Amino acid sequence: MERTHCCGELGIGDGGKSVRLVGWIRARRDHGGLFFLDLGDRTGIVQLLIDVQRHPELESLSALRCESVIGVEGILRLRPKETVNGRLATGEVEVAVERATVHSTADPLPFALDDGSAEKVNEEMRLTYRYLDLRRPKCYGRLLRRHRIGAATRSYLNGNDFLEIELPTLFKTTPEGAREFLVPSRINRGQFYALAQSPQQYKQMLMVAGVERYYSLARCFRDEDLRADRQPEFTQIDLEMSFVGREDIYALVEGLMAHIWKDVLGRELSLPLPRMAFRDAMDRYGSDKPDRRFPMELVDLSSLFAGSSFALFAGPVAAGGVVKAINGKGLASLSQGEMRTLEDGARAMGAKGLAYIKVENGQWKSPIGKFLTEEMRVALQEALAPEEGDLILFSAGPREQACAILGRVRLDCAALQREKGLLSLPEDLFDLFWVVDFPLLTFDGEQGRYVSTHHPFTAPIEEDRPLLHSAPERVRGQHYDLVMNGVELGGGSIRIHSPDLQRDIFENLLKIPADAVERLFGYMVRAFRYGVPPHGGIAIGLDRLAAMLCGTNSIRDVIAFPKTQRGTDLMVQSPSPATEKQLRELAISLR
Ligand code: AMO
Ligand code: AMP
Repeated sequence: MERTHCCGELGIGDGGKSVRLVGWIRARRDHGGLFFLDLGDRTGIVQLLIDVQRHPELESLSALRCESVIGVEGILRLRPKETVNGRLATGEVEVAVERATVHSTADPLPFALDDGSAEKVNEEMRLTYRYLDLRRPKCYGRLLRRHRIGAATRSYLNGNDFLEIELPTLFKTTPEGAREFLVPSRINRGQFYALAQSPQQYKQMLMVAGVERYYSLARCFRDEDLRADRQPEFTQIDLEMSFVGREDIYALVEGLMAHIWKDVLGRELSLPLPRMAFRDAMDRYGSDKPDRRFPMELVDLSSLFAGSSFALFAGPVAAGGVVKAINGKGLASLSQGEMRTLEDGARAMGAKGLAYIKVENGQWKSPIGKFLTEEMRVALQEALAPEEGDLILFSAGPREQACAILGRVRLDCAALQREKGLLSLPEDLFDLFWVVDFPLLTFDGEQGRYVSTHHPFTAPIEEDRPLLHSAPERVRGQHYDLVMNGVELGGGSIRIHSPDLQRDIFENLLKIPADAVERLFGYMVRAFRYGVPPHGGIAIGLDRLAAMLCGTNSIRDVIAFPKTQRGTDLMVQSPSPATEKQLRELAISLR
């Protein structure tokens, strides 16, 4: 049954036309002798009028359950004035049905599909019946927006001489990254592929191959613990360019973002994007992906407590650490439970406690009150300007850790402020900026060695290079992160293109044994000996970008068939056991 129109596009301009429509029955209203159906397709819904007196053969339509699929033929009429539905795009018209075909009938639904009802249903139910959930216009709208982001990305990069190239998903296992999914090889028994965590190494090989400008919307796989912004498989807008430095990448990516903003949101993005040094981000916000939509900045109180008799705070400063505080405006009245939530958050980041001052009835109430001298009180008042109803929170310890702890507490405070109506963030406020000047290496206490802050292919900033062996922790990398509203949207770097430097980093700084370097990365170092252009790139998380531009916190909302937090697909019920035969072929026995 070929349709003449889609349901959602009918209007008064079509009055009097004979139309053929197809779709799902969304609702039914009986009026004795007459009944109405709402017919819906991907574009919207339109009201059907069925006059049983004139068309007794259509009576059976009234017995169909919602979400049954039908086709109808009829005349488009303007609705009488008093029956116009102003909330519906097609509310001025209806279709008087003359003929109908039932394509399929629906069983009773596991949940109602209007947004109001569906969003009250637990997510597990919605994911089990994801094909029903996706029928909701809101879900379709998100898929549409994600599609437009992808389309805008392609059009911008195609227009800038990039080649879209698919790179292997079956890669090999490498250390130095997130946990991988292993894939056993049947043909090469006992050997394994790993699913690509990103196309990083292949895209660098494309630069050695002379492609100069590559991109793909790449599927990536990481066997990590899952959260709202992490899925085991996700998509990157992945790109790499030759003969570029950091400024070239910033300009290219800023142009891409502006293009997406224009195409998808119809908005201008103000360029150039601001930049913030990693050190600054940690000091002021306690995060390398600061949410700057609200101030609540970290204040340094180290000099105030240095050498004081208050050992809990003087101690960490004497050991080279810091004392930091934030002013949680309006949070003095938090319940004990809410205070415990803040403290649990701090403890989860390694804090020993969370000292605080509540300003209530003109008094400072605090477990550390007895240690505060008059001079400290004056200085605290000046530094944090606490007013009636405020809550000051402290973190003392090694610099990075104390900042990170308070950064976490800061976000938890903002969440509480939002809950209590003390902070409102406009949904269309997008604070997009670069975080730069990350340390190239981070010391991993557990492993007792340095690890790459980003990945081992990132080049050091040229002026810091002399420090590589004498003070590795002070070397900054040519690494940049794209951050928006407290979320890391993307990250990339200018790469090392000297084979000797690359080998030096692997062997002498990351302490990977020479034979392992040869086995894992030998091909790369070798490739760099055949003429490699200076190159760099970035990967932007498409799921995260789409979620934010759709105004949702969860990337599951913008993925057609996402996994649960436990990594399962409830609709197809994966993962699932393998058969004995499959395992035998793969030479695998289960412990
Ligand atoms: P990185 O590991 O920083 O860099 O990843 C880039 C971006 O990918 C997104 N992302 C994720 N999205 C959803 N679920 C996940 N589990 C997940 N993990 C990462 C984030 C992140 O910012 N090859 C380098 C890029 C480069 O150097 O060019 C890379 O993969 O938005
Ligand atoms: P205590 O003297 O151990 O009772 O600690 C006094 C207060 O300081 C308590 O509220 C602790 O939770 C808090 N506290 C302890 N260690 C730290 C720290 N390193 N940074 C911030 N607050 C702390």
